[in-house]
Amino acid sequence: MKPETPKPIQLKNYSAPAYRIDTVDLDVSLHPTRTRVLATLKLRPSPDAAKPGGPLVLDGEMMELGSVALDGTVLEAGSYRVTADTLTLPRVPDRAFTLTTETFCNPDTNASLSGLYRSREIYTTQCEAEGFRRITYYLDRPDVLATFTTRIEADVESAPVLLGNGNLVKHGRAGRGRHFAIWHDPHPKPAYLFALVGGKLAAHRDTFTTMSGRKVDLAIYVEPGKEDRCGWAMDALKRSMKWDEERFGREYDLDVFNIVAVSDFNMGAMENKGLNIFNDRLVLANPQTATDANYADIERVIAHEYFHNWTGNRITCRDWFQLCLKEGLTVYRDQEFSADTRSRTVQRIHDVRQLKARQFPEDAGPLAHPVRPSSYIEINNFYTATVYEKGAELVRMIATLLGRETFRKGMDLYFERHDGEAATVEQFLQCFADVSGHDLKSFMNWYNQAGTPELVCALKYDSRAKTATLEVEQIHGASPGASKKSPVPIPIKIGLIGANGQELPLRLANGRELPDGVLEMTKRSEKWTFRDIPSRPVASLLRGFSAPVNLTMSTTDRQLEFLVTHDTDAFNRWQAAQDYAMRIMIAAVRALRKGQRPARPDGFVGALATLLNDTTLEPAYLAQVLAVPSESDVARVIGRDVDPALIHRARRWLRKAIGVQLGDRLVEIYESTVRIKTFKPDAKSAGERALRIAALSLLAARGNPDDIARAARHFREARNATDEIGALAILANLPGPERTEALDRFYKRWKDDHLVIRTWFGFQAAAPLSTTLRTVKQLTTHPLFSMRNPNSVYGLIGTFASSNPLQFNRPDGKGYDFVAARILELDKFNPQVAARLLGAFRSWRNLEIGRRRMALRSLQNIASTPGLSNDVQEIVSKILD
Ligand code: PHE
Ligand code: ZN
Repeated sequence: MKPETPKPIQLKNYSAPAYRIDTVDLDVSLHPTRTRVLATLKLRPSPDAAKPGGPLVLDGEMMELGSVALDGTVLEAGSYRVTADTLTLPRVPDRAFTLTTETFCNPDTNASLSGLYRSREIYTTQCEAEGFRRITYYLDRPDVLATFTTRIEADVESAPVLLGNGNLVKHGRAGRGRHFAIWHDPHPKPAYLFALVGGKLAAHRDTFTTMSGRKVDLAIYVEPGKEDRCGWAMDALKRSMKWDEERFGREYDLDVFNIVAVSDFNMGAMENKGLNIFNDRLVLANPQTATDANYADIERVIAHEYFHNWTGNRITCRDWFQLCLKEGLTVYRDQEFSADTRSRTVQRIHDVRQLKARQFPEDAGPLAHPVRPSSYIEINNFYTATVYEKGAELVRMIATLLGRETFRKGMDLYFERHDGEAATVEQFLQCFADVSGHDLKSFMNWYNQAGTPELVCALKYDSRAKTATLEVEQIHGASPGASKKSPVPIPIKIGLIGANGQELPLRLANGRELPDGVLEMTKRSEKWTFRDIPSRPVASLLRGFSAPVNLTMSTTDRQLEFLVTHDTDAFNRWQAAQDYAMRIMIAAVRALRKGQRPARPDGFVGALATLLNDTTLEPAYLAQVLAVPSESDVARVIGRDVDPALIHRARRWLRKAIGVQLGDRLVEIYESTVRIKTFKPDAKSAGERALRIAALSLLAARGNPDDIARAARHFREARNATDEIGALAILANLPGPERTEALDRFYKRWKDDHLVIRTWFGFQAAAPLSTTLRTVKQLTTHPLFSMRNPNSVYGLIGTFASSNPLQFNRPDGKGYDFVAARILELDKFNPQVAARLLGAFRSWRNLEIGRRRMALRSLQNIASTPGLSNDVQEIVSKILD
């Protein structure tokens, strides 16, 4: 029996393991319902143990134990203890010894997708964070690094391909229709990076020659028949390998690099050493099935997992509290790769949008936690936007504060100093402090404090002295369990813009010119005076979003308009346009609440028109400009007493106003963008398609029959997934015959493709129509939907809960009831996915009272259900706290 409330694990209680494991020999005999694992571990007492000696406690769960042997002698049942999650040997030798265990597990019934499981007949594993303990008894913690050799045996017929970490040593027949492969990984690694795969798989192969001239065999394994959809992923892999050599001096370190795509996977992908395992949606692409957004995601995630080879695998984490050490850093690296590969500004816009949409609400609500948390109940609940994306922002701030070259030196030192080790965030920061002489002690506050700081700014101009003074204060609101907070160092990248749009010199009172325009704020409140400012300037603050903060400054509409049209920093031009749109939508919500009509957004639309006519701006950028903040963005900024229905109306109203007022220009954009015959996935072509669809969408927002006909035509004539799905997204939100026709046609065309058909589920779940909940309920019984498949769950139920604020937050509470019931259903077999879905409720306290009551009822219903997993238990109790 599980205890009622599980005890949290605390960072402050970390202690080094008492035993080390030098080598692991696994002999895995694959069988769908009874896989046998023979594990031989060479252990020894650890010289640096916190508490040397004592019992050997191995982790292990969901397995049947066959036998245990110590130094070759089988142990009597009485000489060890087995619980639901441990195997304890009370006495082990005070020297090196060998432990052999035989265990059995059942891949077919493992629906949690952690440990060894089967996905569409393919045997696969997922060990991060704590899945290896479902394969064998082990010291399943990231600071135990061992060298692995794995023998895999399976039926030749059902699993002709057998893959493991590292290099293939040997393979051959094993009799009775079986065969085997032996893989050896020379790099010591923690168990969470272990993987094996067995099944009928086809390979798309290539090679890469590293900077020192070594040839690496690359392969992407997929279900037979899908090899021709791997080209883009392979291309992205080779470009990632090259980029890491050029930008960070990192070379690949094995003779083979394999990727396997599976259909049932809880997350995006996993960086197992030499054997990355991917959710198939992040591998498979061709122009007909994958949108430009899919192509970009594939490129980014392929890069991300590859980059983990150094940031995560060669240098791993001491404990799971340090998760951001590999994840935040690797996200930073993949963002930089995308920025170098695509357009830096557009990439930054994309990343900041995502940060604000996913991380800011997390940081402002009951699930807020520091980038490096200090306690957890279930580590799987900490693969969050905060650890990943805010974690990446922290690395980015270090790079901004130190400058590109010094940052690179710090990275070099980190690789040199900690290669082969399990490190901490402090050790990471120390490397940057050592190369720069910069005191980064207070930077730890960023890692240890939750919450988004608020930056309150004011610019004062002295026309007699010709000086401008920027006053800044950083404010830290309370987070769960933390009311007192310390100031953090904040890089504030700024510009001062003169009346006719020119960039003014940033010369401080002491005559020093500000390098790169970056101010470093270290105290709670600070001010800087700039001299030689001829007339009142407009401040462009936080350029490129130089810190993950909420900026507040009182600006007039005129100043925002000025920034939209004049800022020399393209990112901030976009930001000013977003701020302006936000301001208008919030005013519209206020008006609508009072039963009034919102005021015409002429100033804003005029500024947009100026941007649209600026021929220096690239299409991808303009597409971002035309995408006004989402309903959830508006809800986040309003913050309390949120009425999703009013927000929905306000945003619809603004989009319609843009469509009406800029109609001619939008038609022109739509019609003038060249239609490229052969599809190319590069960022430039993608940007052109994106702009065209953005125009189409705003035109459709006017609701004229012509506009809808245009979207319907776009859908019918589409030659690639981006156009087809882009138009479907528009039509799916508009009730009428065009909608039904498009959905039917799309279904017929794609019903045999499980990746594409997911978007069909998604659009129906995202439609802001009163019939949506009923439709979503019906779709859960559709033969192509499965609660066991995470992509299916996220695509339908996740989309409804997170991308349809209007219908999820129905005033009658039925949206909440439905999602809560599905969470309970899922929790019985896949707690990780259940806990993730539950995150959709994280902002419930910000809702207006009626909806708040309804959400509370659903949440209490979950909380009072007996037998909840630790995963769901931890999240629901925090949300209700
Ligand atoms: N470590 C994976 C990544 O690259 C994410 C992951 C975590 C995958 C846990 C599976 C399980 O981000
Ligand atoms: Zn990662």
